[in-house]
Amino acid sequence: MSFLFSRRIKHSRKDDNLVLPEHIGIIMDGNGRWASKRGLPRSAGHTAGAQNFRTITRYCSDIGIRYLTVYAFSTENWKRPEDEVSALMKLFKQYLEEALSDFKDDSIVVRFIGDTSAFSPELQELIERTQRESADREGMVLNIAMNYGSRDELVRAVKTIANEVKSGQLSVDEISADTVSSHLYTAGQPDPDLIIRPSGEYRISNFMLWQAAYTEFIILDKLWPDFSTEDLDSALREFSRRNRRFGGV
Ligand code: FPP
Repeated sequence: MSFLFSRRIKHSRKDDNLVLPEHIGIIMDGNGRWASKRGLPRSAGHTAGAQNFRTITRYCSDIGIRYLTVYAFSTENWKRPEDEVSALMKLFKQYLEEALSDFKDDSIVVRFIGDTSAFSPELQELIERTQRESADREGMVLNIAMNYGSRDELVRAVKTIANEVKSGQLSVDEISADTVSSHLYTAGQPDPDLIIRPSGEYRISNFMLWQAAYTEFIILDKLWPDFSTEDLDSALREFSRRNRRFGGV
């Protein structure tokens, strides 16, 4: 386990001249290929990926990241074979139960982004309970994107805004970029500063399209279950060297 960005960083970030992202997004990709390379079923890759989700989440919290968003299941992932989807649902249940107690020590606030109404009543209940029981914690905010798709999120936002205009709560001239942001699942949170995609795919895959307008991207040629705390450290070093201009000079 790497401790380059150990707890020390939390207290001496300025001395090290490191600029840590406030919000990191991770597209946890490559579980299937990780399993295939080992002659294992795809579900074994998701199990390894879920274990890594726990390791990396705790590490982010430990080094002082304020917001972490992980892409766990997209609105398009229902197209996968039934046995893979059901293995994923089982994993979500298992890891959310563990997260309830596990992440408590780290004071992690767990939130869900996406249309969770599509999940089984049991999983929905667990999602609700996890959110409720972690809401008053003061640590890192962990957004778990489940049945999340950025286009779906934007369509929902547009419909809500249209209804607010229709009912006279809002005028068309008042609609701004902030209006849109405040109608997304991530309302009130800063946009991601950094999105990391392991597995070597150069795609955004319907993840935080609006929020990622000025996000820095780091793509790694490593599959998610192999993505280590050392890999995160080097991504953070690279992020720290980037010159972010937000359209300016
Ligand atoms: C993408 O890899 C990964 C997924 C669709 C599932 C990610 C889910 C986890 C890591 C479990 C996390 C658990 C919780 C509770 C948040 P892929 O299957 O598309 O990989 P491939 O591109 O190699 O086929």
